[in-house]
Amino acid sequence: MNTTVRPSATMSDAGNDTSADTTAIAVIGLGYVGLPLAVAAAQSENGPVVGYDINAERVAALKAGLDHTGQVDEATLKSCGLVLTDDPASLIGAGLYIVTVPTPVDAAKQPDLRPLQAACQTVGEVLGRAPVGAMAPIVVFESTVYPGVTEEICGPALEAASGLRAGRDFFLGYSPERINPGDRFHTIDRIIKVVAGQTPEVADRLAALYGRITCAGVYVARDIRTAEAAKVIENAQRDINIAFINEVAMIFGRLGLSVYDVLEAARTKWNFLDFRPGLVGGHCIGVDPFYLAHCAQALGHDPEIILAGRRINDGMGDYLAGWIANHVASLRPRPGRTPRTLVLGVTFKENLPDLRNSKVIDLVHGLMERGHAVDVHDSWADPAEAAAIYDLTLRPTLPESGAPDGGYDCIVGAVAHDAYRAFTTETFAALLRPGGGIADIKGIWRDVELPAGLHRWQL
Ligand SMILES: NC(=O)c1ccc[n+]([C@@H]2O[C@H](COP(=O)([O-])OP(=O)(O)OC[C@H]3O[C@@H](n4cnc5c(N)ncnc54)[C@H](O)[C@@H]3O)[C@@H](O)[C@H]2O)c1
Repeated sequence: MNTTVRPSATMSDAGNDTSADTTAIAVIGLGYVGLPLAVAAAQSENGPVVGYDINAERVAALKAGLDHTGQVDEATLKSCGLVLTDDPASLIGAGLYIVTVPTPVDAAKQPDLRPLQAACQTVGEVLGRAPVGAMAPIVVFESTVYPGVTEEICGPALEAASGLRAGRDFFLGYSPERINPGDRFHTIDRIIKVVAGQTPEVADRLAALYGRITCAGVYVARDIRTAEAAKVIENAQRDINIAFINEVAMIFGRLGLSVYDVLEAARTKWNFLDFRPGLVGGHCIGVDPFYLAHCAQALGHDPEIILAGRRINDGMGDYLAGWIANHVASLRPRPGRTPRTLVLGVTFKENLPDLRNSKVIDLVHGLMERGHAVDVHDSWADPAEAAAIYDLTLRPTLPESGAPDGGYDCIVGAVAHDAYRAFTTETFAALLRPGGGIADIKGIWRDVELPAGLHRWQL
């Protein structure tokens, strides 16, 4: 086992690398994680790469060069050499299967492993015994799970579907995905890849294969459970840290202090951890801690900090709705008028179209419950998807001059999309009614001067 980060072979020296492994790769699940990985694998010229997804519409769109997640552009999709398919038969014969399907939670916030089990069924049905002398196939999981899932759940599921034996006819591996969609700097080729294998030889082979995809290096973890645990705590740690900042924002709000002012001062200390308050949604940070909590509880441990963090972050939408409604109630009233609020941004993250597990919805519902008429705009989200998932009608555009009903009482900066960061004094003058206010949840308008008579509320 190697406990340091191994440098990767660069793409340019791949052709001269006599140890180059031209194993055929199949990626199962072409979402935010799987598609960039499959494309990077295809570009690294390891060998043929097949990208498979059960969603035929997604595959058809990708074949047409359209990635609705915005991770891969049309030219790259069309030129990278990735074979796209929704036909499981195309997976036959791969030497490395990489599973990148969702790992959500159910209504009771318990791990929902059904997509992972379905993917194991698909892979198990195409897994074949390697010809004599050839290397046995490896099935590596990248989906975020709790320690034990790969070996105790996926391995047996693959065995049952294939009739083969893990550790003899095929091998298991785990390599957590760390990409940060929307982050143009920490792209898949620049992130250290953690890999772990069922045996040291499998780990070495995975290190070599993944080393061709990333230039940042590969870290070989002690074993599969260690790699699974490392990933799940990365996200639980973020969740807990954000929960702490959300909690202090609530405390400082009572003191009349802005948490952004406090953070600006505290950040000047070299070892202060730089987290910001906000709504924790999406498929990872707001979900993965429940996987760790489930694992803890199954072992008889009460995961107090992990679940406290989840409670605070899950309650933040409603907290903010109350906070905004109180501020709006303190304004000079407009007799006979319902307070009218414009919420900007509904995706779970800035400059991305991803609507999964958006906590802005809690804020919108909380404002409605408190009697506000709420308009929602998002410069990135697909209105049809917002309607289908949340029954939410997005405003198609922002009113260019003059908002409905004499102007909004309040504009909420809920997601820091670039389009909203660019708002100016004039934008607020046009959209707000005289005496209205802005609720700057993300601290994006701290430097924008407001016209006289308008109010600013920031966490
Ligand atoms: N999105 C992120 O930022 C991120 C980062 C790191 C890790 N992860 C983890 O990676 C995993 C995948 O996340 P994602 O964001 O890419 O999800 P996603 O929803 O964007 O994509 C998953 C894809 O898998 C497909 N799929 C579902 N079941 C399938 C099956 N049985 N066979 C084949 N395809 C199937 C879906 O159609 C979808 O296209 C999750 O475990 C997630 O926690 C996500």
